[in-house]
Amino acid sequence: MSTATTHDKNSVMDRLKWETRPAHDRIESVPFSMMMQEGRLPRARFAAKLACWLTVHGALEAAVAQSDDAACAAVWVDSMARTSHLRHDLCCHGDMDMPAAAATATLRIVKWLSGLADTDPRALLGCLYVLEGSKLGGTILRKCLDDAYGCGPDALSYFWASGTSPMPDFKAFKERMEAALTTDEERDRVVAAASGMFEHLTDVLEGLLEGLDSAAAVEPEPVGEGKCPFGHG
Ligand code: HEM
Repeated sequence: MSTATTHDKNSVMDRLKWETRPAHDRIESVPFSMMMQEGRLPRARFAAKLACWLTVHGALEAAVAQSDDAACAAVWVDSMARTSHLRHDLCCHGDMDMPAAAATATLRIVKWLSGLADTDPRALLGCLYVLEGSKLGGTILRKCLDDAYGCGPDALSYFWASGTSPMPDFKAFKERMEAALTTDEERDRVVAAASGMFEHLTDVLEGLLEGLDSAAAVEPEPVGEGKCPFGHG
């Protein structure tokens, strides 16, 4: 039986999914992402990540929402905005430890987005896809982060912005994207921008790793005398 998957080159969402797959796999497996998934990330660095993401969301959301471009207007809905969630969560995780390299990489994204907004606002929809799609993996991350910090879902509201399942919102986003982007040429620009966004965000995560020992093992909880080491009483 053939396992080949067919991709529709006339579907911008198919192209985004498959053509940015290598970039997604890279951002998912950089040491910073692994430390989040394995509960090994110091909380002050998680707070720094929220601050970097707040800067990026702020720049992108404003650029898309205020654009005169017809495709941007057709795709953007105010409920996609997540800056208020990030601001809220930032107040819940204590002091942040922001490495200079992460701040520099974040400002590089802001500059890049502002250039796109001036020259090719429609391409910003590729960047928006990257942040909107990240809600899917966020359902895995929010559990890892809650386990690591014991903070509860309120402190992770960024990852709950679409509720229990992000699928209905993502499906509606996909439909708006397909209807708004109908030529090969504009799909090319959107896919290229999405790849660029993944690369830039990967640079931020690499910057956020500065000074951390990414190979450090998780410190096991000390087991009290007479207690079962497997947590059964
Ligand atoms: C940190 C660890 C991450 C994990 C474990 C993860 C996991 C996932 C999973 C399970 C999906 C759903 C795949 C599918 O249904 O086909 C997904 C989709 C996606 N993720 Fe991630 N992800 C991570 C990080 C990120 C980051 C940092 C971004 C970008 C900021 C991102 C952007 C996306 C996008 C755009 C999609 C949608 C793919 C599509 O078009 O269907 N992910 N991720």
